[in-house]
Parts: sequence; structure tokens; C-alpha cells
Amino acid sequence: MIPDHSHLDPEIVKRLNELEKKYNAMGQDLVSYLDGLLHSDFLTYWDYINLDTLLSLQQPKTPFKDEMVFIIYHQITELYFKLILHEIHQVTILTKPNDKIFLAKIRRMNRYFDQLSNSFDIMVDGMSRKEFMNFRMSLLPSSGFQSAQYRLIEIGCTDVINLVSLKYREALIQESDFEILYDHIYWKEGASELATGEKTLTLKQFEEKYSNKLIRRMATHKDNNLNQLLLNNFSFSDISEEIIHELRKLDLNANINWPLAHYRSAARHLQRDPEVIAATGGTNWQKYLPPRFQKVIFFPSLWASDELENWGHNWVKDLLQAHA
Ligand code: HEM
Repeated sequence: MIPDHSHLDPEIVKRLNELEKKYNAMGQDLVSYLDGLLHSDFLTYWDYINLDTLLSLQQPKTPFKDEMVFIIYHQITELYFKLILHEIHQVTILTKPNDKIFLAKIRRMNRYFDQLSNSFDIMVDGMSRKEFMNFRMSLLPSSGFQSAQYRLIEIGCTDVINLVSLKYREALIQESDFEILYDHIYWKEGASELATGEKTLTLKQFEEKYSNKLIRRMATHKDNNLNQLLLNNFSFSDISEEIIHELRKLDLNANINWPLAHYRSAARHLQRDPEVIAATGGTNWQKYLPPRFQKVIFFPSLWASDELENWGHNWVKDLLQAHA
């Protein structure tokens, strides 16, 4: 017990007593730690958020000024992806959430997706088309397609069968081997060369770096991705309207709104006819990126059959008309 010194504020004495208890419990000497405190610096904003490191991570490969916009917007997106994964992790891996926590986390994810979809204009009208064409060729074969966090979000949100290419989805419905499902994953369709049908280098590099990790994550999320939580943790008759509303919103955000906002950037900057794309070794992104072609839907049980059938259809039509 620290003797009572009348000149010391009683609140300080109280804290010292508490600290002494805490350090004693761990067999530690409080005085040594107080010595450390005496000499340690006050925390600064720039150290706390690693500001210098953060601001050193933008390294354009070309002299074109808009490349900086391109890099930073990708980085911002990856940080939001990280926040989305942070929420998924808490409700799927760490705890069995009750309705209230589940709802709060899904709301957060929607908030992040809203920010991303609403800010994508930075990539559309916020960059010069001419400059884009100039610097983009220097960045090949890298592509946002290689974003592993984007794939981890998909894997955390739904069963792998819902990410299998539409061509094989029905045939593989009973398949439980993740390697086989992974071999038929939808995103491979977006990474074959238009001229040859061969896997692009972009995909080969991505697979070399991430396939093992993604397949492992599929196994981890087998029974506890968000769709499984929806189907198993809550009984359907009891599930609140609010949860259904937020999950449907998440499906729209992740699988229509963001993909369409992204598609607009490709339409603005890369619009060419398929022959030209083939000649440059490009992918058939026009037949891949619009949501109606892949029909990735995280929570199919929450949609009526005509909504599933026409997934993204009207949205794409409206968008194309608006830009005709
Ligand atoms: C001017 C801006 C952009 C253009 C023109 C563009 C273009 C494309 C194209 C053509 C593809 C199809 C695959 C390929 O051919 O490489 C693609 C895929 C992709 N891009 Fe972008 N992109 C842009 C910005 C972004 C940003 C800011 C992100 C954020 C990380 C991003 C993430 C992705 C993802 C995740 C895919 C795969 C989508 C899927 O599989 O459904 N892109 N992009």
C-alpha cells in the first residue's frame, strides 16, 4: 500500500494504488514502470497514425500527374475494404453475434460501401482520360482485379457456390471440395485474353500469390460466412425486418452499386471495340464487369425469383442509356 501523502491529490493516490495492484498481480515492479513513464515521450498524432509512412506510400511510375489520383484512390479503397473485413471478422470468427450486434456490423459495412460507390466519380470524371491512357499502359499487367481483399470480402459474405461461375453453378451445387470450387470461380472469366482464351498474366500472378490463402479462407468460412449466419443462426420466422433490409442493401451495395460505379470508370477510360481490346491482349471486361453477367449474389434466399433472374439488368440498361 502506498502511504498517504497529504500533498498528493487523492485521485492520484487512488490510481497509484490501482496500478500497484495491477503490476503486482503480474509480478512486475511498478516503480520501474514509473521510471519508464518518466522518460517516455508524449504521443503525437503523426506517430500514432504512422503518418510519415502512410504519406510515403504513393510512388507514381510515370510523370503524369493524374497517376497520383489513381494510386491514392486505390489505397483509400483498400483501406475501406480492410474496414469491411474487420467487421466481417468480428461477426463470423470472433463471436456468435446476437441480432443487435449483427445488425450494427452490417450497417457499418453498408456505410463503407456507400462511401466507396459514392466517391467512385473520382475515377470517372475526376481523372483526365488522356492522362489515364498515358500512365495506365505503364502499369501493366497489374489490375485492381488482383485485389485479394475484394475476394476475401466475397468469401466472408457468402457460400463459395454463390461465387462459382454461372456456367457451372448448378452442376457444382453438391460439390464440397474447395479446390474444385475454386477452379470454377467466377472471377476467372474476367481474366482470360479475348484473342486466345488463355489465362492472363494478371490472373496467373494473382493465383501464385493468393490461391492457397483464399482456399484456406473458404474452409474457415464454410459454416460461418454471413449467408450461413443468416440461414442458421437466426430462424427465418424471427429474423427482423431490419436485418433483412440491411442484408439486401449489402447485396446491392457489394454486387450492383460498387460494381456499376467501377464499371463506369472502365466505360469512360477504356471504351473500345472488342477487336481492339483483343489486339492489345486485353480482357473482355464489357462482358464481365456488369453485374448481370456474373450474377454474384451473397444472400439468394432474400430475393424473389424474378429479382434473381434480372439481377442488375435494369441498372445496367439505365446506366448505358445515360451514357449513350
Ligand atoms: C479508372 C479506374 C479503373 C479502371 C479503368 C478499371 C478497370 C478494370 C477492368 C477493365 C477490370 C477487368 C479485369 C481487367 O481487365 O483487368 C477491372 C477489375 C477490377 N478492378 Fe478495376 N478499374 C479501375 C479502378 C479500380 C479501383 C479504384 C479499384 C479498387 C480497388 C478496382 C478494383 C477492381 C476489382 C476488384 C476488379 C475485379 C472485379 C470483379 O472481378 O468483378 N478498380 N478493373
